[in-house]
Amino acid sequence: MSTHPAAEKTSRKLYIESYGCAMNFSDSEIIASIMGEHGFVNTQDELDADVIFLNTCAIRDNAEQRIRQRLIHLRQNKKHNNELIIGVLGCMAERLKSKLLEEEHLVDVVAGPDSYRELPKLVAEVDDGGRAINVLLSREETYGDLNPVRLNSNGVTAFVSIMRGCDNMCSFCVVPFTRGRERSRDPESIVNEVIQLKNQGYKEITLLGQNVNSYLWFGGGPKKEFKSLTKEEQDNSVDFADLLEKVAEAASEMRIRYSTSHPRDINEKVVETMARHKNICNYIHLPVQSGNTRVLEAMSRNYSREWYMEKIEMIRRIIPDCGISSDIIAGFCTETEEEHKDTLSLIEWAQFDFSYMYKYSERPATPAAKKFSDDVPEDVKGRRLSEIIAVQNKMSKERNSEYVGKEVVVLVEGESKKSDQDWMGRNDQNVVVVFPKEHYNRGDLVKVLVERNTTTTLIGKAIH
Ligand code: SAH
Ligand code: SF4
Ligand code: F3S
Repeated sequence: MSTHPAAEKTSRKLYIESYGCAMNFSDSEIIASIMGEHGFVNTQDELDADVIFLNTCAIRDNAEQRIRQRLIHLRQNKKHNNELIIGVLGCMAERLKSKLLEEEHLVDVVAGPDSYRELPKLVAEVDDGGRAINVLLSREETYGDLNPVRLNSNGVTAFVSIMRGCDNMCSFCVVPFTRGRERSRDPESIVNEVIQLKNQGYKEITLLGQNVNSYLWFGGGPKKEFKSLTKEEQDNSVDFADLLEKVAEAASEMRIRYSTSHPRDINEKVVETMARHKNICNYIHLPVQSGNTRVLEAMSRNYSREWYMEKIEMIRRIIPDCGISSDIIAGFCTETEEEHKDTLSLIEWAQFDFSYMYKYSERPATPAAKKFSDDVPEDVKGRRLSEIIAVQNKMSKERNSEYVGKEVVVLVEGESKKSDQDWMGRNDQNVVVVFPKEHYNRGDLVKVLVERNTTTTLIGKAIH
């Protein structure tokens, strides 16, 4: 790859700050890798940086407001160092495109999720006195050939991206606009990355995609349905269950997780593959969004309340002790009080261990913004969200109490936030467990007897 000479000033320092979902954090590791090849070294100190990249999220309005605030703050950094280059990357960059350069005068670089290979060139353009933007989306880019640089790593757990983009067009969601068309990454490069992580001492990996169950490799390029492949492509294709199997076998001593599943696409083949491999964790994040079929339809989720319930039953039949978590949106357009109550009853029925819960936030240009008015008043949204949180918290506490008196196996990730005398890790079902350190180390798999629990945590002691 040719490099612009200006980008090769020796060892310029790069500071990356990531927002949003795991995929964005994983992208930052790709960005660090690309910049590293062009002579940039990472720094943890923003005041020491020559370049600051904010890798941004656009999922809800408050995610973007946070970035606006952060940019106001960064004016100070620029005052101290007038050569400082500031880049806004990721989903907010892709959503706002050149508007971001018009609105935020201190931003020098705007780059969308598919243009990270161009970053050194964009920085070089700024060195030459301009401002630079690239927000082209690609139908093929997966960054599959790159070696991500692990940032802020605990040395134990790592993310591996298996696909990019999303073709689902849920009506509330900005992701299809910010990340473009769905495409799957070459399974060979995924397995190689996992083996490399294993050799570096990592103990757990999470395979990442917006809708992992629709992963399908047939040679590359934009997503196709299995039935539209040629006979030869079908015979050589790799679906998500096949990929899980390959990864689980290539790294049998590592824990394997994945996120996120879509209720429409999760199937028995995947759950049976999980059940067959001890090292694939018994945990599924299966966002329901709403417990009411009419609302789900307005959200274009492509499943009903009953379909979702059948999927939960299928999971519990094949893996009785599976941890299940969800995402829920309160106060989506046109949602009535009765429909909201269906969400509350579904949380109790499904017994989610945990949920991420949000107030609906209208995103410009999404199908919902075009089709509906954001008609649930803010205070009603807030009240519905509190009710959802209350039911979920009750559920989480109940689910966690079932572990009291039992043994769980915990992978130690790091120190407990509350005490430097305790380790923190997760059990197979992804529940956080805290216990006294004793002689154990980060990265150990430890048997812990659970003595008590809170809504979010199991507390216990190692069993010798
Ligand atoms: N691909 C994943 C979700 C990605 S976004 C999936 O389909 O499950 C993560 C979560 O943010 C979503 O599950 C949804 O609950 C929430 N979300 C997305 N758009 C939102 C919006 N406009 N307002 C509020 N929450 C939203
Ligand atoms: Fe958004 Fe739906 Fe795609 Fe998830 S599946 S990223 S909610 S469009
Ligand atoms: Fe946010 Fe983009 Fe992820 S909008 S949630 S960072 S895909």
